[in-house]
Amino acid sequence: MNAVEIKSNIYWVGAIDWGIRDFHGYITQNGTTYNNYLIMDEQVTLLDTVKYDFAGTTIDNIRSVVEPSKIKNIIINHIEPDHVSSLDKIMALTPEAVIYITAMGKKGLDRLFDTSAWKFRIVKTGDTLNTGRYNLMFIETPMIHWPDSMMTYVKEARLLISQDAFGQHFASAGRFDDEFLSCFSAAELEDAVKDYYANILMPFGKLIKSKIAEIQKLGLEIDMIAPDHGIIWRKDPLKIINMYLDMVNGKADLSVVIIYDTMWHSTEQMTLPIMQGIKDEEIECRVIKLRATQVSAAIKEFWKARGGAVKGAYDEFRKMGLEIFEPGIQVLYKTSSADEKKCYEFGREFARKVKEYHQKF
Ligand code: FEO
Repeated sequence: MNAVEIKSNIYWVGAIDWGIRDFHGYITQNGTTYNNYLIMDEQVTLLDTVKYDFAGTTIDNIRSVVEPSKIKNIIINHIEPDHVSSLDKIMALTPEAVIYITAMGKKGLDRLFDTSAWKFRIVKTGDTLNTGRYNLMFIETPMIHWPDSMMTYVKEARLLISQDAFGQHFASAGRFDDEFLSCFSAAELEDAVKDYYANILMPFGKLIKSKIAEIQKLGLEIDMIAPDHGIIWRKDPLKIINMYLDMVNGKADLSVVIIYDTMWHSTEQMTLPIMQGIKDEEIECRVIKLRATQVSAAIKEFWKARGGAVKGAYDEFRKMGLEIFEPGIQVLYKTSSADEKKCYEFGREFARKVKEYHQKF
């Protein structure tokens, strides 16, 4: 596959990983993509690289547009190896290129490569780079989701290159949201966004909320959002921003998921009356046995419901800004018929609280 022009003289030069099913423990049933971008201007500029397995692919894609030796600037928005681990191969082809990176990114890069011969410019929010026709501005996004992370805004193209944020793990033939939606449903796309958010970004919800507010305050005109994974938001960039705003503001599906584990089926016996109580309040309920479920799938379902009633996890839930339902319910050893009745009532009460919570939106 060759480069794909996403804006005038700006190209996707990334790689599609159809086969990956385990992305550092996160199950990626649909594969993923590593998106990086090439700006063809007076100063040829590359944004990010790809996972090392695909170094040859991105170099071929770059070469379909320009000889890699012509690259003058390389912007590293994020140093996690799925985006940076081909950098040495690219630097070997254009050793005089200047790398634009945050201070934290440089520190990390020094640990990943011998950078002693490379040229750097350390950037922070508001710093700019003129490539000729295009003006680029950097926006630091520390802890979204690594300390080094940043985004790059291409002013004249109204393009936000958003690194991991707004991405999804989905390998597809189309590079854009409208192409994706001609093959898959909107529900599949939304599910991929939520899955990714739950597994990659969920702990940083408060930071994401303030960063979106900061970007809105900057008054940037954006008509395309190009993340480092999955589809590029061309037809409806507002959709992904609104989805993120809903997620960081705690909007959840009107549903309950019971995630349990059990050694001798006692806890399992509690789940059935709780589930029945929830169902009798007419709320959709899913039950997940943790040890039989891949963790990232359980995390996604937990995130979609967004609340918790597990006493031992209250502190963690609070840190994540989730709603807590207290008191929870405990049963010692085997569930008696009186316990089952309590579990049923607990389920009904929990479901009523869930309905109350949803009235806020
Ligand atoms: Fe896609 Fe944080 O790497």
